[in-house]
Amino acid sequence: MPDSPVSHHPAGSGQKSPEAEASNEQKAQMEQAYQQMQRKMRISKLDEGIKHKIMVLSGKGGVGKSTVATGLALSLARKGKKVGLMDIDITGPNVPIMLGLEEADLNVEDGQIHPAEGPNGVKVISMAFLIEDPDKPVIWRGPIKLGAIQQFIGDVSWGELDALIIDFPPGTSDEPLTVSQSLPGIDGVVIVTTPQEVALLDSRKSINFAKTISVPVLGVVENMSGYTIRGSAEPNSTISVMSPEGVMKECDSDSEGNWDITLDVFKSGGGEEASDEMGVPFLGTLPFDPGIVRGGDDGVHRIIAEPEGNTAKAFESIVDNIMGQLDKGSERSLRII
Ligand SMILES: Nc1ncnc2c1ncn2[C@@H]1O[C@H](COP(=O)(O)OP(=O)(O)O)[C@@H](O)[C@H]1O
Ligand SMILES: [Mg+2]
Repeated sequence: MPDSPVSHHPAGSGQKSPEAEASNEQKAQMEQAYQQMQRKMRISKLDEGIKHKIMVLSGKGGVGKSTVATGLALSLARKGKKVGLMDIDITGPNVPIMLGLEEADLNVEDGQIHPAEGPNGVKVISMAFLIEDPDKPVIWRGPIKLGAIQQFIGDVSWGELDALIIDFPPGTSDEPLTVSQSLPGIDGVVIVTTPQEVALLDSRKSINFAKTISVPVLGVVENMSGYTIRGSAEPNSTISVMSPEGVMKECDSDSEGNWDITLDVFKSGGGEEASDEMGVPFLGTLPFDPGIVRGGDDGVHRIIAEPEGNTAKAFESIVDNIMGQLDKGSERSLRII
């Protein structure tokens, strides 16, 4: 480490005196303390360089948290914002797959990790980049895991960002707690839920968790909120479709004859009800869209594959609502202290 105040002497080839041993140990300790101090300084600088920090949480796994985190990042970037995406899911980091970045090489300079660059210029860092064999599950427990997260936060060189989106493993486990304690100035959490009652119950837990750690709830996103079907017909004609609940729904085909319509598959509106009940904003719904699954697997996110499609538009509206919440800033009455 060239900027370290601790000088390194080449280890002597002969026998070491006890004093020399002790001083080497002391040097190592000083070196470690110095690195920790530097990391702390870098973390406090992160607050200046990154305008908004948003955590994406869910009570349950598989509700689309990573899909939403990547979608928010891509959508914000599409609006011209400088965006970073941090994937804290150590046990199942899948953000790189969703963004086609599995082969990304990380550049390390002066002890700092430079994020990979994804679509729309989104800067991405994921635990997956640090894991050698992606098929081997990572089992890091307790302090080791938390230490790794702190190091992860302090050693990444993000540069100036308008927003940093942080994706977590499911649940209100140690990870969001550690991040909220290590990273100053978190603006708030976005909670992802599906319309089913069980997921909603879990999202209520996430809302309470955010309140416990004194981080504002920016709002709830209801994912997989309806199913979009597509077809083609006469250009500019009206299409009628029978919905699962037995009601005729109508939509118009465009000038090329393409049409799509979103039907409720599960009960919908639960996310909004839960937000009202808990007194937190509702940010919007995302349709159940098979293109999201394909995109998640082949590394081309729906927003990139179809920037004008329903899902991309739904993300845009959610992002507008989040920005509206961020603008309310410190005057937000939701902050529980
Ligand atoms: N709106 C959606 N429509 C269809 N499939 C979705 C949608 N959101 C997520 N998925 C799929 O559900 C699975 C779980 O999503 P993921 O984002 O990994 O969830 P989590 O991070 O909460 O575990 C993935 O296969 C993903 O492609
Ligand atoms: Mg995930």
